[in-house]
Amino acid sequence: MKIAMACDHGGFELKEEIKTYLEKQGIQILDLGTHTTDSVDYPEYGEACGEAVVSGRADRGIVCCGTGIGISIAANKVKGVRCALCTSVQMAEMTRKHNDANILAMGGRITDTEAAKNITQAWLDTEFEGGRHQRRVDMLNNM
Ligand code: RB5
Repeated sequence: MKIAMACDHGGFELKEEIKTYLEKQGIQILDLGTHTTDSVDYPEYGEACGEAVVSGRADRGIVCCGTGIGISIAANKVKGVRCALCTSVQMAEMTRKHNDANILAMGGRITDTEAAKNITQAWLDTEFEGGRHQRRVDMLNNM
């Protein structure tokens, strides 16, 4: 699996921690930046991750900003993206089961590293349930 990752300055440290965590599992990372804590604009990074996923350059994406809110809004502007901001393992599991979320968003100023690793792992390990949820995901994709 290849995962695209992107962040702004507020999510930089969390992105780096999660990147290392995933690489240790042999997961390939497409790191779209940012690469420092210098201030940047989260819309550019959310869009870049969204485009990487819908184009097939990556299988899924993870985005981080200070809260996870701005960069998730940006990613969701890209048609075909279903980006879910998660602050718990339960949210990560449910957004995979019901929404088939293809991008995970987390907030570097909201979620600590250990919690973020657990959220990421749950999001990676949980399958989409399909069934009645497929019709709703289709509706999202057609918007
Ligand atoms: C940057 O200061 C901050 O606004 C950004 O990281 C994010 O939290 C926006 O939603």
